[in-house]
Amino acid sequence: MTNKRLDYQINDQTVVVRYQQGLLQLTVLTAEIVRVLKNTTVGDYSYAIEGNKQQATDFSVDEQDQQLILTTAALRIEINDDQLIDVFNDAGQPLVLDYRGQRTPLDRDMDEAQAKLASAEGHETDANANAGVGYQEVVKDLAADEVFYGLGDKSGFINKRGYEYDNWNTDDPAPQMENFKSLYKSVPFLLGLKDGVPYGLFFDNTYRSHFDLGKENQHYYFYSVVNGCLDYYIIGGKTLREVIKNYTYLTGRTPLPQKWTLGYQQSRWGYKNAQQIGEIAAKMRQYQLPCDVIHLDIDYMDDFRVFTWDQNKYPQMKQFLADLKAQGIKIVTIIDPGVKQDPGYDIYDAGVRNNFFAKTPEDYNYVNRVWPGDSVYPDFGKTRVQKWWAENHQRLTDIGVSGIWNDMNEPASFIGEIPDEIIFSDHDQPATHGKMHNVYGHNMSKATYTGLKDQQQRRPFVITRAAFAGTQKYSTVWTGDNHSLWAHLQMMIPQLCNLGMSGFAFAGTDIGGFGSDATPELLTRWIEAAIFSPLLRNHSAMGTRHQEPWSFGEPTLSTYRKYLQLRYHLLPYLYDLFAEGEQTGLPILRAMVLDDEQDPRLRNLNDQFMVGDRLLVAPIVTVGQTKRLVYLPAGEWLDFWTGATYQGQQDIVVTVPLDYLPLFVRKNSLLPWHAENRTSVQAAPETKITFRLFGDHGSYQHYQDNGLDFAYQQGEYNLYQVEVDGRQQRIELLQHGYQPVYQEITLETANGQQVFNFDTESGQYVLR
Ligand code: GLC
Repeated sequence: MTNKRLDYQINDQTVVVRYQQGLLQLTVLTAEIVRVLKNTTVGDYSYAIEGNKQQATDFSVDEQDQQLILTTAALRIEINDDQLIDVFNDAGQPLVLDYRGQRTPLDRDMDEAQAKLASAEGHETDANANAGVGYQEVVKDLAADEVFYGLGDKSGFINKRGYEYDNWNTDDPAPQMENFKSLYKSVPFLLGLKDGVPYGLFFDNTYRSHFDLGKENQHYYFYSVVNGCLDYYIIGGKTLREVIKNYTYLTGRTPLPQKWTLGYQQSRWGYKNAQQIGEIAAKMRQYQLPCDVIHLDIDYMDDFRVFTWDQNKYPQMKQFLADLKAQGIKIVTIIDPGVKQDPGYDIYDAGVRNNFFAKTPEDYNYVNRVWPGDSVYPDFGKTRVQKWWAENHQRLTDIGVSGIWNDMNEPASFIGEIPDEIIFSDHDQPATHGKMHNVYGHNMSKATYTGLKDQQQRRPFVITRAAFAGTQKYSTVWTGDNHSLWAHLQMMIPQLCNLGMSGFAFAGTDIGGFGSDATPELLTRWIEAAIFSPLLRNHSAMGTRHQEPWSFGEPTLSTYRKYLQLRYHLLPYLYDLFAEGEQTGLPILRAMVLDDEQDPRLRNLNDQFMVGDRLLVAPIVTVGQTKRLVYLPAGEWLDFWTGATYQGQQDIVVTVPLDYLPLFVRKNSLLPWHAENRTSVQAAPETKITFRLFGDHGSYQHYQDNGLDFAYQQGEYNLYQVEVDGRQQRIELLQHGYQPVYQEITLETANGQQVFNFDTESGQYVLR
């Protein structure tokens, strides 16, 4: 039976289409972003999207034959009977088409009873086996060459086609492989290329949801969700980059961080006390390893009580942190959500008194178990809880803690999953765990961000394990409990690339691997591969082999140092990319496909990536490798180490001794370069900088500010334009809002070095 389209109404930029059964509502936000709501005119409260994103946009609605056609400058949406829609770009190329056939679940040689049993035991079954009331799905046409990216931190390879995933924040420390359906984060944002034409789909629903990207059938992909509204955004753009820009316009961009957060960070679960932390810091200096941060894992707390520290292990905490800071090392402490159930502990008592914890339907505080033992869960969906949690950070910021690491906020629970019906608030209204689970980490890190911002007057440094779409506005992320396994070093690249394409520009993995035992070769290859990872942290689990840079002696230590120093030389490049990313939403570490999506060779590359537009990194992620192939995109490329030139669109063979990271620069690039061998970001004052030319000419815009607070948003920053063309060289101060400017700028070209000095009177750089 056809569900006929009856009539429609236009209110402002919203078109409501009435059917014999149900309705479809389309809202034009911009020419490239259209929201679709099915069978309701009001969606759920959005955690991902803040503020009004609708811009005054021209559009038209025409009725033609059997269709209603909504057209913007960039999209054409055909609205049909049966609530089916088809989306095309302005050139008429298909982007997203509703599938007309029936789904055909995979044949697994099981009858219904067996399938149920398998599902209960957690084995593979079909996604909608648990379909109940409230279940909804959308099935879309899949083209023969369609590829998918995005989806946050999901395991496996860069192109998600052929796999299925669940959006349900999951803490599972077992080695995460490509068959894992869910991990710590839920980012229901899909980036697609259909016949080379880019588009995005963002499903704004916090309930447990599922993507099948051509696994069940090669002719369609689908999204399903167990409850809530079918509420999604069709996102256009001429390129994948533009789609990412649009998606991050909608859900927010990674803000410019404090500069020191881009430095090297050392961590381990199991560091015992202040003395051991002091020794780690001393070794960093002794071995000339630049380092900006040491993390304190749960061991620093007083019996795992959040917002406390163990006075025996850290007797003079404030003084200790001040001493470390004087050496250029900042401390980041972990804060988990689980509050120890412990009458007399003031955080617990305050939470109980004020009804700040999640409740059972019978109105008791819900108890599960995490590190402190029996624990209760702050109900971050309440505004008062957010405020309280934020304020509690004063205890840590007062003693000089510089950043906060949020963990276990899926939320994790050691004695079984938290039942769906436990009461967690949704925007101050009682709701369920089933609805709020996926935004628990989001709301926690938002509270943390708010607290740090108020107390420190700095750009907050928060790291979270669990996240939802949009969390990038508040927190950086790491990929959770990987292992010291080659498979996980390999997975780092697609994971960080996809996080980057999902808006999470500031992300990293545990370098060296968290679980299992590292080897010297693995640690060496890992630091090489990760050296441009936006978040650069070595972290390992208690009980595993130590993997600090010196743990394996030489030559691991020297190689490690060589790459840390490379990172610090190139920090201004990374910082420039962050400044750019705040405007464009583009990641720092970029999937090769973002370089040229029309080159099919770039669509499935799992073992190389770009850093910005200028650097191509092709790490070694396999044990015992002595040579590797590198695919160079169109253009010309220079070997970073030797200067050798290569034509693009070919594979080259590179010999890769253990201390060697294949690194290429796009020909005719300038790169900023800090000459000093820094021990930490703050150790060397920024009075000088060098720009190195790779090729014959180049142009570069460099950003500078105080690297700390929000003054840049009031114009306190400098922009330098550097131009090198043959023998002509020019340095211009485009914007001068931050004092001081560089006194000396060196240009390094094939012809040697030229030094420019800042002339205060003219406000210009003059050749010395
Ligand atoms: C979790 C975290 C890990 C941390 C450990 C102890 O497993 O993912 O990073 O070290 O808890 O706090």
